[in-house]
Amino acid sequence: MDPAHPTIRPRRLRRTALLRSLVRENTLEKNDLIFPMFVCPGKKVRNEIPSMPGNFQFSVDTLLGELENVCNLGISAIILFGLPEKKDPQGSQAYSPKGPVPQAFRAIKKEKLPLICIADVCLCEYTSHGHCGLVQGDEILNDPTLPLLAKTSVTLADAGADMIAPSDMMDGRVAAIRAALNKTGHDNIAILSYAAKYASAFYGPFREAADSAPQFGDRRSYQMDPANGREALKEVALDIEEGADLVMVKPALPYLDILYQVRQRFDIPVAAYHVSGEFSAIMAAGLRGWLDVQRAMMESLVAIKRAGADFILTYYAKQAAQSIDQGWFR
Ligand code: PBG
Repeated sequence: MDPAHPTIRPRRLRRTALLRSLVRENTLEKNDLIFPMFVCPGKKVRNEIPSMPGNFQFSVDTLLGELENVCNLGISAIILFGLPEKKDPQGSQAYSPKGPVPQAFRAIKKEKLPLICIADVCLCEYTSHGHCGLVQGDEILNDPTLPLLAKTSVTLADAGADMIAPSDMMDGRVAAIRAALNKTGHDNIAILSYAAKYASAFYGPFREAADSAPQFGDRRSYQMDPANGREALKEVALDIEEGADLVMVKPALPYLDILYQVRQRFDIPVAAYHVSGEFSAIMAAGLRGWLDVQRAMMESLVAIKRAGADFILTYYAKQAAQSIDQGWFR
């Protein structure tokens, strides 16, 4: 062996685009993508979210128009977040069948759009204090919140949601929601649990989009400590025991190690949420010409797949579908 002339040359398989695509271990497909969207009251509303360029708050009518584009791009799943008409300490609009999200699901099902409709279930968009559960003093109550989450889930399933995705991080909510769904004839509606959801700074832009920032304190008494890894496996195991059909890790890029471990350890579908701050950070740098948005986006998304995600919730769903159409992985 001549050290100046290597025999083993990994570069042989990187020589051309065709060779690279032959040996590529992971790709991104359109059916890996779930597009998160925001629905608000009113008509003809289409408010761009300043910190999330290209993402909007839609009223139900304009949402339907946008969903036509989403379907035409070949995206097969959406998750909806709602902005209610009014907020109160109980978040009572969360379980109102007249809320923007149930209305949107009914309209989508009426139009027979070919979309998996996922309902985020949480109280924070609906409570005046902005917390994900009921509040007493400065404490976020666990058990009294569970019936409200269960009721909200039933409202959303009644409206046509195909999947219920609780994001509140109260203990025991998957069991409470499963029981309520079963009792109301929704045995076939799956639960996608935000099982390992961290108390993350990367939710910043979302809280502007969904008007859901906590009015006092923070979410660290219910969302996970970013320093913890093993605890995420415990959260996932508990949610599976309680009846979760799919589990999620959130955010995605800062937690690829968690995603990888969850994928290795458990045999149910695993989702990752590429959250608002991950989206906005790339967009902001791109707007300054500091990086190439399309490349940074596709690299991030395929990294999330490589770590073990079966599918990804991402505000880049439309752009990623377009990149796939352009033959990104060819
Ligand atoms: C509601 C919820 C949040 C996100 C999804 N569901 C915000 C939060 O927990 O404060 C964040 C999504 C994102 O940043 O894109 N509990």
